[in-house]
Amino acid sequence: MKKKATALAHPNIAFIKYWGNQNQELRIPQNGSLSMNLSGLEARTTVHFDSDLHADQFTLNDEPMDGAGLARVTKMLDRVRRLAGINQYASVSSQNNFPTGSGIASSAAAFAALALAASTAAGLTLSEKETSILARTGSGSASRSVPGGFVEWQAGSDHESSYAFSIAPPEHWDLVDLVAVVSQEHKATGSTAGHTLADTSPFQSARVQDAPRRIDICRTALLEKDFDAFAEIVELDSNMMHAVMQTSSPRLNYWRPATLAIMHAVQELRRGGIPVCYTIDAGPNVHVLCPKEFSDEVSEQLINISGVIKILAASPGGPAKLIPEGGN
Ligand code: PMV
Repeated sequence: MKKKATALAHPNIAFIKYWGNQNQELRIPQNGSLSMNLSGLEARTTVHFDSDLHADQFTLNDEPMDGAGLARVTKMLDRVRRLAGINQYASVSSQNNFPTGSGIASSAAAFAALALAASTAAGLTLSEKETSILARTGSGSASRSVPGGFVEWQAGSDHESSYAFSIAPPEHWDLVDLVAVVSQEHKATGSTAGHTLADTSPFQSARVQDAPRRIDICRTALLEKDFDAFAEIVELDSNMMHAVMQTSSPRLNYWRPATLAIMHAVQELRRGGIPVCYTIDAGPNVHVLCPKEFSDEVSEQLINISGVIKILAASPGGPAKLIPEGGN
């Protein structure tokens, strides 16, 4: 049995969002979603099953983790041990090359890399679909960081049918995600807790019911590289998710004044003829999307908005992959 493996995965930004589960434990979502992996940003995770260990160990960016962070990793390792029929504990070491609290969901990259590294180290050879299913159980959006480029996660109705697949490779469309960072504080309510509140909003059922229509429009816009249609549906979908968040009990309002200032600036730029749109996850930072040829111009506008601390830029990224020993 090969006991040690290292994997790399990128985070992703959802164009059609996932919010609310059919099954909380297995993270089977109420609606399908669409996303793009983010190149240049990555989590690198090494898993080593070792019969000398008496418990699982987890370090994140060289800091030993315990409590909820370790428990979430152990839960995935338990699943892998059951699948592989092994009982050794593992040491897990993960490095992110992007700052936590930067408005980029680190859990997607982290659990995609962990699913691939842990299953390989345990001697399993999972298909991309099986790796996506495994990653999903750690963080729903991690299922989308397993395949490359532009990705669709079909909601499915059970553990086997809920997984993500690529709909176009990274080179299909040279979109850029400019993350306008307005706060680096840790968010008060994370997405795991947030998903459990979705059904308390009277808007959630309408959002979920309409999701297949939004996915179809977004998928077609992506495949045809129709930025105008893409921009309309991406902003609508983001606003719908935030409408659910802002009307759940308790209410979740992730926006700051600068968040709204950026949304307005982006719409102003679009009215002025620049192809650009926004989308916002469970935090105050704004992901601003545009074709690469407009990214310098858009960045210059964004950095001048009061409250914007910095801009991170990412283009479409590849799939989660194994890193050979000593390689990069
Ligand atoms: O995978 P989670 O539990 O971190 O949920 C992700 C939720 C959003 O980022 C807000 C939307 C999405 O589809 O990525």
